[in-house]
Amino acid sequence: MLSYDIVVVGAGGAGMMAALAASEDPDLEVAVLSKIYPTRSHTGAAQGGINAALGNRDPSDSVEKHFRDTVKGSDFLADQDAVEFFTSRMPELIQELDFYGVPFSRDENGRVAQRPFGGASSPRTCYSADKTGHVILHTLYEQCLKRGVKFLHEWFLLSLAVEEGELDGLVALDMRSGAIHPIQAKAAVIATGGFGRIYWNRTTNALNMTGDGTAACFDAGIPLKDPEFVQFHPTGLASSGILMSEACRGEGGHLLNKEGERFMARYAPEKMELGPRDLVSRAIETEIKEGRGFGEGIGAYVQMDLRHLGKEKILERLPQVRALAMHFEGVDIIEEPVPIRPSCHYMMGGIHVVDYKTCRTPIEGILAAGECACISIHGANRLGGNSVADVVLFGKYAGLGAREIAKQRSLPSGKKVKKEADRWIKTFDRMRRKTEGIPVTEIRDKMAETMWNNVGIFRRESEMKEALETVGRLLEDYQDACIGDTSVRYNLAFVHYVEVGNLLKLAKAVALGALHRKESRGSHARADYPKRDDGRFLKHTLIYKKGDDYILQYEPVKITKYRPEERKY
Ligand code: FUM
Repeated sequence: MLSYDIVVVGAGGAGMMAALAASEDPDLEVAVLSKIYPTRSHTGAAQGGINAALGNRDPSDSVEKHFRDTVKGSDFLADQDAVEFFTSRMPELIQELDFYGVPFSRDENGRVAQRPFGGASSPRTCYSADKTGHVILHTLYEQCLKRGVKFLHEWFLLSLAVEEGELDGLVALDMRSGAIHPIQAKAAVIATGGFGRIYWNRTTNALNMTGDGTAACFDAGIPLKDPEFVQFHPTGLASSGILMSEACRGEGGHLLNKEGERFMARYAPEKMELGPRDLVSRAIETEIKEGRGFGEGIGAYVQMDLRHLGKEKILERLPQVRALAMHFEGVDIIEEPVPIRPSCHYMMGGIHVVDYKTCRTPIEGILAAGECACISIHGANRLGGNSVADVVLFGKYAGLGAREIAKQRSLPSGKKVKKEADRWIKTFDRMRRKTEGIPVTEIRDKMAETMWNNVGIFRRESEMKEALETVGRLLEDYQDACIGDTSVRYNLAFVHYVEVGNLLKLAKAVALGALHRKESRGSHARADYPKRDDGRFLKHTLIYKKGDDYILQYEPVKITKYRPEERKY
């Protein structure tokens, strides 16, 4: 049986930082398992930047201001001890990335350049043009190779085996050979990113963002924390949902309705286009609903106008945005406004982390970092630029946490993981031979349509109940799914079958958490409960999975410094 001291699942920013930190100890064998080639990980799609209070552009910026902005942005649902830990360590982490070789854009004095981002009281988003995630991902990959980290790429996590509350191992499919392996490990860091694909094609997320690690933890008995908080990025391309970075607004872009009006004046008179994402997304949808958008139905949109920035600035700061708008919307932003509409971007909720300093979960040996984890520093709404920051910072601390565990634990018996692998071998075999049933894509598309229509930007009880019923039916249909591919090697239809199963489980948790949170907070906007209700809901949702049953509990929010108050921008 394969065995490692530490297995990191996912090769994005969090996974690679975890692997780097863990592999600082030369006695530990560390492997990174990734379903795609590491440098194709979704961190590469993070365009606009990474937040740290360096004060390079605004000397009055401070860690304290970053802390306060993050808590306010979160609509007071973030755990403030964790936010303080995060914001106070970010300046040093930027220095660390700089030394690794991340080519940050520079200001006229040669310091790391910073730009304004939504919900921030100072320009503190460090960037590399509009390819920040891409350059960080590539730099970390080089560092991991230099350190001798072993990569198992095109290996797909199927499940986690747990024995008496402790990790026994992981089961993974080597997609190239079709072999299913049990893997023994003392510690596993789950860093598999978000699951925006529950909305399938109305998301900025890459095709692979299907919550495989989150679902594996959920099945293994770790609760999902705050799954109802789904971030819709205000500026997805109208026809595909692809991200037009917040850097567009950070650099001065305007949002216009069909009357040519900068409508944000009505919703965030001070911050205008640089309001936080939840607020700007709702403003756009309200404009559309009230007839001031262009087009109709799912195809409706407003415009983002960047022409006044001028060709030179656009080519220097937003080259990728321009290319994306040209390729996927047929619009050159130098010449014309680009049609945009909110698109699912980020999951604030995720795997329940119980200790932010080590990223441990309730199960000994399993840790989580990055978008798949909920620590929680983003609460009900994440600020732009805090995601790549979260990923690299907590990726590092998860790696250090895993190191600590690997030093203390001996290799588990591997009995449970062996059995679990045998179960998957039978499932793979059965699905390859099955010739009739419901196409997986049909189930997936119905799930996405239901989630967009019923558990989207604006929510109400009757619609969410309907969504829960539909997802429940789809989970039954899934038992009769057919993949239509008999191959052993590279059976991507089987991989997608497992991915859709993962998405369904997670979609149900999102709908359930949203139904029971009878208030509006951050990204969770209920038409039937339009106000925040701190008396009843200043608490985190925890959803446990016991077999097919979902059990809902709540846990207090940690408030250290900032008492909840009305959010105004
Ligand atoms: O808009 C963006 O560039 C995305 C950044 C983020 O989600 O933090």
